[in-house]
Amino acid sequence: MSRKALIAANWKMYKTPAEAQAFVDAFLPLVAGHTRDEIVLFPSATSLSTVVEAVAGSNVAVGLQNMHWAEEGAYTGESSAAMLKAVGATHTLIGHSERRQYFGENDEVVNLKLQTALKHGIIPIVCIGEHLDEREAGKTAVVLCAQLRGALTGVTLEAAAPIVIAYEPVWAIGTGRTATPEMAAEAHQIIRAEISQILGPAVADAVRILYGGSVKPDNASSLLQQHDIDGALVGGASLKPDSFAAIVKY
Ligand code: PGA
Repeated sequence: MSRKALIAANWKMYKTPAEAQAFVDAFLPLVAGHTRDEIVLFPSATSLSTVVEAVAGSNVAVGLQNMHWAEEGAYTGESSAAMLKAVGATHTLIGHSERRQYFGENDEVVNLKLQTALKHGIIPIVCIGEHLDEREAGKTAVVLCAQLRGALTGVTLEAAAPIVIAYEPVWAIGTGRTATPEMAAEAHQIIRAEISQILGPAVADAVRILYGGSVKPDNASSLLQQHDIDGALVGGASLKPDSFAAIVKY
């Protein structure tokens, strides 16, 4: 089946609301009428409503970089699914390696967040990926499969359709060191095969698997031409409108 590619901008802790607005003002004309790919921006929480308003009526969607699993409660600094939806966002990142590394998110937390996102009709992009020492020890497949199993525990076949997976080798994030298209394609095949084991071939065939880790305008097309690569999660190169637009139009 053909999967519509999804190209996402992860702005991390960059851009004030005014800077986010300026990005959108410059970016929308560059991608006007572009329907081949889904385009999603992930600004910081403080710029979320600015960006949602700025993209209104366009072909661009907006998501939150992090969302709590509880409906509400005493969780200082967190945002809930209802809050995300109330401002008009539609997507969330879950389990980004920086959340895992600096904020102690593990597969159990990823699973709780995924269940909450699915329950609320929010499109989750679940990030997985191996560290350099794990790759060098030949453990890439084991790590990816364990992260997938942890994330997907208890997810039913019926609920699984909106799930998007992002394969982000940790050693490639923000380092300028990209996985080769062949390395990425191999990892994506492993991921799809494992999803097939967990949720069956129909779900595995439909789930989009994005690549992330130093995606730039000059390497996007060789990565995105790979059969099992269904889009990109872009950090550094998504901060400038022309560079992100060039990736969207790979
Ligand atoms: P990068 O970040 O493109 O700057 O490597 C990707 C990500 O962290 O999602």
